[in-house]
Amino acid sequence: MTYKSMPKVELHTHLEGCAPPAFIRGLAQEKLLDISGIFNSDGSYAYRDFDHFLQVYEAACTTLQSPQDFYRLTKAVLEQSAAHGVVYQETFVSPDFCGGGDMAAWRDYLAAMETAAHEAEAEFGITLKGIATCIRHFGPDAAKPSALCAVETFGDFITGFGMAGGEMAGRPGDFAYAFDMAREAGMPLTCHAGEWGGPDMVADTLRDLKVERIGHGVNAIKDVNLVAEIADTGVTLEVCPGSNVFLQATGGWADHPIQKLRDAGVKVTVSTDDPPFFATTMTDEFDMLAQTFGWEDADFKEVNETALAAAFCDDATRAKIAKRLETA
Ligand code: HPA
Ligand code: ZN
Repeated sequence: MTYKSMPKVELHTHLEGCAPPAFIRGLAQEKLLDISGIFNSDGSYAYRDFDHFLQVYEAACTTLQSPQDFYRLTKAVLEQSAAHGVVYQETFVSPDFCGGGDMAAWRDYLAAMETAAHEAEAEFGITLKGIATCIRHFGPDAAKPSALCAVETFGDFITGFGMAGGEMAGRPGDFAYAFDMAREAGMPLTCHAGEWGGPDMVADTLRDLKVERIGHGVNAIKDVNLVAEIADTGVTLEVCPGSNVFLQATGGWADHPIQKLRDAGVKVTVSTDDPPFFATTMTDEFDMLAQTFGWEDADFKEVNETALAAAFCDDATRAKIAKRLETA
């Protein structure tokens, strides 16, 4: 039994992190860049732990140097996602990796991604929206121009603002200026928290950044009061079980908190994070949830509906995707 063909809604991916290693190697060859150190002998990405993963990720990003590179990346990523049944995907894209925070360059990169997204929608039947993201370990000062880029391009493609990167760098409140800017512009917000940080990190993120979604959030399980608050306030968790298991942010599949969070009434969704880095796909995620927790069609349907309700898209897109889920 496999859920490969079931339609899926995926909220938490990092665009560059979805790049197949062969794609990055191809770009490196074209540009005569030697990044052979980031690959294993079998061609997969090589890293020791999360901090090293972030370094390898940034090394892979050095091959992505132009809007055209991001056009090709976006096309390749969406073809892959669609092959696993994803009909709607949100992806983090950072001005830091798309022109280094320069507004004009950022607009050019986005235009290329949007062209690729429109082509992929026609060719593969998948809709993509972007969440402009600051990078936490680059610090609060770098987050401000990223938020400005986000605000200036908030619209049909860039539909939200968020923060990725090393979760243990600084405290959430250090980034309040950037998040306030985006919120004041009407942007919906999400932030990685509670993947490496404890429940206090999730609580501070909710209090200081006032986000409606949390990336991961799984360590909230260690505080029953926080779990109840998350359930009561309807904050949605972008849970990435395969990523957590691969990086050992949680125990193995059988110990993963997604089931307990769901049982407690928390809105949980399922995503891959950076599929080739964590040896996963949306098919694998669904199949493992079925195997581990006995999830069936009705459970996956509910998770898809939860994700679509929390998606940072316009209502016309939400209605269009809802139809695709219904008629499947
Ligand atoms: N987590 C945090 N930051 C990231 C990731 C991730 O999985 N991928 C790229 N930046
Ligand atoms: Zn992530």
